[in-house]
Amino acid sequence: MKTYLVTGANRGIGLEFCRQLKALGETVIAVCRSTSSELNNLGVRIESGIDITSDQSVADLAKRLYGTQLDVLINNAGILEKNTLDNLDFDSIRWQFEVNSLGALRVTQALLANLRAGSKVAIITSRMGSIGDNTSGSSYGYRMSKAALSMAGKSLSHDLKPQQIAVAILHPGLVNTLMTGYRGIPTSEAVQGLLARINQLNLENSGTFWHANGEVLPW
Ligand SMILES: NC(=O)c1ccc[n+]([C@@H]2O[C@H](COP(=O)([O-])OP(=O)(O)OC[C@H]3O[C@@H](n4cnc5c(N)ncnc54)[C@H](OP(=O)(O)O)[C@@H]3O)[C@@H](O)[C@H]2O)c1
Repeated sequence: MKTYLVTGANRGIGLEFCRQLKALGETVIAVCRSTSSELNNLGVRIESGIDITSDQSVADLAKRLYGTQLDVLINNAGILEKNTLDNLDFDSIRWQFEVNSLGALRVTQALLANLRAGSKVAIITSRMGSIGDNTSGSSYGYRMSKAALSMAGKSLSHDLKPQQIAVAILHPGLVNTLMTGYRGIPTSEAVQGLLARINQLNLENSGTFWHANGEVLPW
């Protein structure tokens, strides 16, 4: 039995991670700003009141988890706000960097003491953060913040290798959640693929940018 921590656990992909991991008999620590009835019903450990944009909040999480070893840290929480060139909102773009790029880095750094040789870190980024795959433009805040997040994941893969901690940079696909207006594949299918990639992750392939379906994506 392994211990998994999932951020953004109250709904969408994060909730489905918790559901599938619990069904597999794993220990789940579900981290969220506020819980949901669906999450409460899973019967997993819930750490609520954690905002990944707040240094103090994330430090509080680290305090609550003092001495708890994590086998897998899944940085899933994120936001998408629409920003077009003719309607740029720099506060919105800045906020997406705060949540998407800095949030996962803040959480990972705060929980380094909970990881050990053999632990894994999963970064849920997006194909929309791929420069090579950008054929349609727009979505400035989301694309830029996810590109920065992928870069953070790549640096983490190098920096954590000496400690034998592997890092996966993962795109879930277009998934049916609030974020997409409930368009795309079911969360169950996306999370099955994401968990397969996390299982496949090792120190040799650490730092790879994978689609949940196993395809290696361009940066
Ligand atoms: N759905 C897709 O097609 C798709 C595609 C590519 C990548 N992704 C990525 O997959 C991840 C999960 O997305 P989703 O589709 O499940 O979206 P979602 O249903 O909108 O869920 C987003 C989660 O992030 C949490 N969150 C947002 N801001 C936060 C903050 N400041 N502190 C802590 N938690 C925060 C939300 O919590 P609250 O309820 O408190 O807001 C929620 O639990 C995101 O990183 C997203 O970018 C999704």
